[in-house]
Amino acid sequence: MSKILVTGGAGFIGSNFVRMLLQGSDHHVVNVDALTYAGNLENLVDCERHERYAFVKADIADAAAMDAVFAARRPDVVVHFAAESHVDRSVLDATAFVRTNVIGTQVLLDKARVFKTQRFVHVSTDEVYGSLGASGYFTEETPIQPNSPYSASKASSDLMVRAAVHTHHMDCVITRCSNNYGPFQFPEKLIPLMIANAMEGKKLPVYGDGKNVRDWIHVVDHCAGIKKAMEQGRAGEVYNFGGDAERENLFVVKEILRLLGKGEDLIHYVKDRPGHDRRYAMDSSKACATLGWRPAHTFEGGLRETVAWYQQNRQWWERVRSGAYQDYYKQQYGAR
Ligand code: NAD
Ligand code: TYD
Repeated sequence: MSKILVTGGAGFIGSNFVRMLLQGSDHHVVNVDALTYAGNLENLVDCERHERYAFVKADIADAAAMDAVFAARRPDVVVHFAAESHVDRSVLDATAFVRTNVIGTQVLLDKARVFKTQRFVHVSTDEVYGSLGASGYFTEETPIQPNSPYSASKASSDLMVRAAVHTHHMDCVITRCSNNYGPFQFPEKLIPLMIANAMEGKKLPVYGDGKNVRDWIHVVDHCAGIKKAMEQGRAGEVYNFGGDAERENLFVVKEILRLLGKGEDLIHYVKDRPGHDRRYAMDSSKACATLGWRPAHTFEGGLRETVAWYQQNRQWWERVRSGAYQDYYKQQYGAR
């Protein structure tokens, strides 16, 4: 049993990871999250009264706040999800991306070193490797060549983690994963946006020619990989996780429409994203061989399950879209 400090646990992947730890281990979990627009405590309604769970509202880039959290909680392990995560927002303004993703990560590394945290798991992305042509895969040896302000900020944070290992001999592992989908994903990302728009009969905005390729992984498979990297990963190593499910965006959108029984006339081609990466594809063989991990979901099965989840949890995403979800913290935790 360990004390695990999860950052960004009110977001999409972090909340799925917190649930996995509470249900599938005896670890204690402290969720540190600033509750930006992407943080939603309604993602954790079923966990909030768990005896091994605590929530702290705090900003990872605030060194004094992190000092207080580490002094009070003395975590054995940090699993670091907190980030600004949406490429389109980083195109509009990269300031928060540098602050949270780069400075926030460095603040956490500093506190983990001072308070002698045993292990630091840094959750990163395939997007740090840049864009692929029609063939080839990203391996852990692929050079870092980020193209968007988002991926550049994540690559910078990866390098700060690498430096902490080499300079301060910290026990850090870096995980890099492909595009996630599943329950509780904020409806600004492709799959939940398309599901919610289609359910409301709104247009589905497809960027460019719709032929960009992403390697889709179910969020539970990603969380299982992070847990294995946390438990068995070697200090200083990088582990890639992918879903073995490369699909063109247009294929994904059409599949969502088919599952919802909606017509393809809802598809609306819009101006391409500036600097839009063409293709991502992950080689996960290192994680499979050394961590005994493999994705359990097929894309078609996982997408069917995800569409059903958004149908059954319409209130969840309607409250996100209306902004009502932002009142939940005040209601549950008081005006702190
Ligand atoms: P998300 O945007 O859904 O959640 C991010 C969370 O971080 C939110 O709860 C937000 O409130 C919190 N946060 C933001 N700034 C903060 C700050 N300064 N201090 C404290 N908390 C803060 O993101 P996600 O999709 O769950 O991604 C989680 C992590 O996984 C990120 O590091 C991301 O780069 C990485 N990742 C995501 C994907 C994906 O497909 N979504 C794929 C690979 C890696
Ligand atoms: P996104 O979910 O934003 O993830 P990322 O950019 O990190 O891969 O986008 C996935 C793909 O879908 C990407 O190629 C951009 C495209 N996309 C659209 O075509 N329309 C949209 O409205 C969005 C949000 C994304």
